[in-house]
Amino acid sequence: MTDINDLIKQMTLEEKAALCTGASSWTTTPIERLGLPELTVSDGPHGVRRVANVSDLISTSLPATSFPTASCMASTWDVDLIHSLGQALAEECIALKVDVILGPGVNMKRTPLGGRNFEYYSEDPYLAGQMAASFITGVQSKGVGTSLKHFAANNQETQRLTISSEVDERTLREIYLPAFETAVKKAKPWTVMCAYNKLNGTYCSENYRLLVEILKEEWGYEGFVVSDWGAVHDRVASLKGGLDLEMPGPRDRRVKSVAEAVRSGEVDESVLDESVRRIMRIVFKAAETSKGNSFDINAHHSLARRIAAEGMVLLKNDGILPLKDQQHIAVIGHGAEDAHFQGGGSSHINPTLVDNPFKELQKLAKNAELTYSEGYPAGSTFDQKLIDAAVINARSADVALLYVALPDSIESEGYDRSNLDLTPQEVSLIKAVTAVQPRTVVILNNGAPVVMGEWINGTAAVVEAWMMGQAGGGAIADVLYGKVNPSGKLAETFPLKLVDTPAQINFPGGNGEVRYGEGLFIGYRYYDAKEVPVQFPFGHGMSYTTFSYTNPKVSAVTFKDKDGLTVSVDVTNTGMVVGKEAVQVYVHDHKSELVRPPKELKAFTKVELQPGETRTVTLALDFRAFAYYHPGFQQWITENGEVDILIGASSADIRCIQTVKLESSLDLPSLLDRESTVREWMEDRRGKLALAPLFQQMTAQIKAAFGGGEEAGMDTLGFLMDMPLLGVLDFQGSALPMPPEDLVDGLLAQVRQN
Ligand code: BGC
Repeated sequence: MTDINDLIKQMTLEEKAALCTGASSWTTTPIERLGLPELTVSDGPHGVRRVANVSDLISTSLPATSFPTASCMASTWDVDLIHSLGQALAEECIALKVDVILGPGVNMKRTPLGGRNFEYYSEDPYLAGQMAASFITGVQSKGVGTSLKHFAANNQETQRLTISSEVDERTLREIYLPAFETAVKKAKPWTVMCAYNKLNGTYCSENYRLLVEILKEEWGYEGFVVSDWGAVHDRVASLKGGLDLEMPGPRDRRVKSVAEAVRSGEVDESVLDESVRRIMRIVFKAAETSKGNSFDINAHHSLARRIAAEGMVLLKNDGILPLKDQQHIAVIGHGAEDAHFQGGGSSHINPTLVDNPFKELQKLAKNAELTYSEGYPAGSTFDQKLIDAAVINARSADVALLYVALPDSIESEGYDRSNLDLTPQEVSLIKAVTAVQPRTVVILNNGAPVVMGEWINGTAAVVEAWMMGQAGGGAIADVLYGKVNPSGKLAETFPLKLVDTPAQINFPGGNGEVRYGEGLFIGYRYYDAKEVPVQFPFGHGMSYTTFSYTNPKVSAVTFKDKDGLTVSVDVTNTGMVVGKEAVQVYVHDHKSELVRPPKELKAFTKVELQPGETRTVTLALDFRAFAYYHPGFQQWITENGEVDILIGASSADIRCIQTVKLESSLDLPSLLDRESTVREWMEDRRGKLALAPLFQQMTAQIKAAFGGGEEAGMDTLGFLMDMPLLGVLDFQGSALPMPPEDLVDGLLAQVRQN
């Protein structure tokens, strides 16, 4: 065992500073005389982008499996499958000599316009956190590290390097941090990557509150924090802020500035030592996994196909799918010949193999005649001739399969989308084809929602095939022919229109900041609260079979928050084919001091059932499933009262409701102060006790002074309740035995004693 503390004692200041700055685009600084090797990192998150020469930032990378992107992964709702994906990625890292893969990305999909949404899991923090934890444990089980990114509130590409995300504390805790928190606590990622942006005015790379107080101290994180590539502005400030490793390197200036700051006393050497210790621990740990050799290209391609099929979401089906004995199939769309399977930017993989969707379909459509038309060109140009030819093809066929992919450059790191539309050519194509061929199936390739209002009614079925990875072409054929019964469900809402989306009036901000004005209400939390109709709700996805939910049970009707609850339900496959169902559990609090979303996902599982088979699905709900973050108490709290447990097939398809009674175990201090209103005093247990003797007298006096309020057209008591107690007492002036401030301070002292 290497004694890291001992090594640190032997290091010069320059060596320590150098270790905290990259040596190249993708490696850390080795210290040969101490036997400390370099650490090699590579993107991430759905394939290994190992550039051959580590001093190149971007160059053709070595071939690796391009797995489905995170939108598709999350739509599987299958944590075990994501664990297997993690293991496969680790095998490729080992073969390609990579110590840490730069992923997963767990930022929330605040708006469907986010350019990198394809790299992120969900609009729901619970789902994203579970997926990330599984991904990380999968990778790390093989001795390869991960980098959980981008910490935090990095939810847009517009001005991504400089914008300040202005987020209130509660929203941060309940929406933007939990996926990180779950992944850190459950899966202990070796590294966490800080985001480019500022959070409430301070760069994440220098954010002591975020990196030290929350991540390292509160969550007990033991790995190291690495900067996003180029996210450091002031190396000394970032070191003090908790950023351990700056990437990329080399950056001699930075190394010098750190050494000087320690020499001048600006930074205590123990701060630098702490970062050195964190980095060294991981470098030595990584070195325990020997690298090299090869990986099983075909096995990983098959796994990629399985994940792609499991993540595909059957959005609409009038019964045309699965395909059966169609004789003549019109296959239309550029995407059928040239698969669109990944997004742009740092996650772009050089695939080992790529399925041709048309050829894969041909393999399953054995006796059918397949006729192809391109339908739309690559890119966004308009060509009516392609539409006309597709219409002729579709008209004479038994069924038309329309492979519609967003052009490559629309979804990418570095910029956001400007709308949620397919290209004008694609929309015209779908309308023209469905006009002559009602038996039309649209297969979509995109990383985030598109709007469908203009064309969906004419279709017979719609399959969301996502950015499906290199084996997606085969996976589409599997789903269309029912070789795989679709079981993917949406991990994000598909809105009817862009203007309906929650962040729309605050996005993308300006003047250097973006205000998260919608607060907690992103995704389905917003659509539910505002009763805004959507195209497809969060959690939606169809199957070729049907499922019933019966016999819901809870482990206790009255329970203590810290004991949690278990919920069970019998799920039966009521159809004719084997299928999988993602069972979702949401929580709805009847009444709370602070506003809460109407429902929030708190548990899920996926179950496979033979036709006619029933299984009892059991899910656990812990303290956090019922708690919300109270910024006044600065902690997660529960309140006594009734809570509905909603068990459903989607956020909008709740099949069973169980109402339970929660008993809070918290003994929270009183938040009353001189500014508290009469209502706040009366709603506070201790405050009510203290104020009670005075309350009667006070209301009587106010009534006497103001009458019933009729003259002013108001209810005097109602008027009084929302005034500060101090203000009400002030009105009584000489009628009081002492100055109102003293009276309130006396009551506050009583409250604090109780
Ligand atoms: C991206 C990161 C990526 C890094 C290295 C950055 O621009 O934001 O996600 O890991 O580059 O390529």
